[in-house]
Amino acid sequence: MTASHNSASNPSSPEFAYFKNQFVPIEEATISVKTHAFLYGTSIFEGIRGYWLPEERAICIFRMREHYQRMMRNSKIFFIHPTHTLEEYLRTTVSLVHKNQLATDSYIRPTLYKTGNTIGPYMENGITEFCLWTSPLGQYVDINKGLKVCVSNWRRVDDNAIPPRAKAGGAYMNTALIVTEAKFNGFDEAVVLTHEGTVSEGSAMNLFLIQNGKLLTPGKTENILEGITRDAVLTLAKQELGIESIERTIDRTELYTCDEAFFCGTGAQIAPITNFDNRPVGDGEIGPLTRKLQNLYFDVVKNKRPEYQDWCTVVYLDKSLDENLKRLGLAENLNPVP
Ligand SMILES: Cc1ncc(COP(=O)(O)O)c(C=O)c1O
Repeated sequence: MTASHNSASNPSSPEFAYFKNQFVPIEEATISVKTHAFLYGTSIFEGIRGYWLPEERAICIFRMREHYQRMMRNSKIFFIHPTHTLEEYLRTTVSLVHKNQLATDSYIRPTLYKTGNTIGPYMENGITEFCLWTSPLGQYVDINKGLKVCVSNWRRVDDNAIPPRAKAGGAYMNTALIVTEAKFNGFDEAVVLTHEGTVSEGSAMNLFLIQNGKLLTPGKTENILEGITRDAVLTLAKQELGIESIERTIDRTELYTCDEAFFCGTGAQIAPITNFDNRPVGDGEIGPLTRKLQNLYFDVVKNKRPEYQDWCTVVYLDKSLDENLKRLGLAENLNPVP
């Protein structure tokens, strides 16, 4: 990831964020050191991918609506009340993507966060604010080589501790410990277990195993984030490849005996795993079903499969914002909810 992204794609174009209900230059999107979310991690966020379509000079935002629906639904868990309606979030995101003119694959980061400068983590004291920025993002993990993965010594945060299904900022201290330990120990990534010792997910990605031609993935009550890519994989496996998927509790040793394995997520995309804890997965090469799903995934996220057009929000950078918003059925005012 590059820090000052527009220099990578368009040196003359300034970079904007959406902050305090308006579009501002990124340098002005700053918060106080007393901000509740900075002090206590009281934010929830989404990570959304925008895929660059060079021929159309457009960004294809993948499953944007579902990301905001998840953010709004889960905000309830933490008393972090949404600041805008769903349609307003969608419109703001399309507007920012268009405004930033980022001619590359990118990451779109909405955050709902507690502010209000009160001391103490009590949630209802503060008010919620919303901010949004974009940045270039190529590969978050290597999706070509086959990842070398360990089982983490850390355990996944629990639904009764910091509920992982909410994608809360503070919970990513857990992710940080998991991924940092893995890298210090020479691995690319880690799988983390629940407190019961069953498989949960990767540090910031969901996990699939393939055994006897069937997909296996930990169920929704295994302290996973209910991934939008995970849902896409389940749908594509069933509808396009006719493969059965089983969501169930998975033992650690099933990692060592499966035929194929991969991570999936907005960052990870579809990332094949070829080694768990120094044991080759299958024959140690990227598996054929994993490859098929990876190819299918890239066709879908780049809007090459008309059946999945509903998952793609295409923003044409050379057309006006109004034209884009009208075509997408999002042309309205950008007012915050009173
Ligand atoms: C902990 C965690 N699990 C899984 C995922 C994958 O979810 P999604 O496919 O919605 O991006 C993410 C985010 O990418 C994550 O942070």
